[in-house]
Amino acid sequence: MPLVSGTEIFKAARKGGYAVGAYNTNNLEWTQAILEAAQAKNAPVLIQTSMGAAKYMGGYKLVVHMVEDLIESMNITVPVVLHLDHGEYDDALECIEAGYTSVMFDGSHLPFEENLKLAKDVVEKAHAKGVSVECEVGSIGGEEDGIIGSGELADIDECVQMVNTGIDFLACGIGNIHGAYPENWAGLAFDHLQAIADAVGQDVPLVLHGGSGIPQEQIEKAISMGVSKINVNTEFQLSFAKAIREYIEAGKDLEGKGFDPRKLLAPGKAAIVKDAIEHIEWFGSADKA
Ligand code: 13P
Repeated sequence: MPLVSGTEIFKAARKGGYAVGAYNTNNLEWTQAILEAAQAKNAPVLIQTSMGAAKYMGGYKLVVHMVEDLIESMNITVPVVLHLDHGEYDDALECIEAGYTSVMFDGSHLPFEENLKLAKDVVEKAHAKGVSVECEVGSIGGEEDGIIGSGELADIDECVQMVNTGIDFLACGIGNIHGAYPENWAGLAFDHLQAIADAVGQDVPLVLHGGSGIPQEQIEKAISMGVSKINVNTEFQLSFAKAIREYIEAGKDLEGKGFDPRKLLAPGKAAIVKDAIEHIEWFGSADKA
């Protein structure tokens, strides 16, 4: 199946009361692992690259070709969305041209009026090509230069204005943060999530960034209140690194040709398949392809 836009996938998730995982990829093995897990669970899936990860891999076109070719060679039949995560304006436009089927324009660091104006422009250009759009209001906290932000609460009126630009899904801060959650994290702000969902309308898919490390019951409650796309990156990074560390610490890289990169990276890839399958199950997207 060719790559699909996120529009229908996330509308269906919002309506059906489940979430579709948005998994960041960083290389070939991660992409294979995410696709393998989605196919095994018959789940729609979104693969996303940050601007940096795409650059690391060789650029947006390379990512498009890699994902499209893997879909073919792995006989993937579940719907796959290829999405730009936290894109600058120019990168969003580049991805639309390169063949991504969904983009996030993240203007959350800009004055709101400018964020809104650029969002409108990205929506127009993306929708003309059948590409879905995510935009962000407020900013998602996280670690920056060693300072941990507690996670902002998005302004409700700004959420409504952003949705009115015609975006397909909305990223809004509800106390979530990227990376590891600090010990004293207060948890997701469910009252605020409810207020956003009530204000923007019950059919608008909401996006939860910083999906790594949020307790399962909080994730499930958030999904029941309108979260339809959940971004996960750090958890997979930790699992990948742990599995490869264990392989090396067990001396397996020194046994026979255990140093062969295809063998060395295999435990990391298997760890991501396992993690992705678990996430698909508790996001409720198994058998929703
Ligand atoms: P985590 O790395 O915390 O899972 O967040 C991923 C994310 O939100 C990407 O946009």
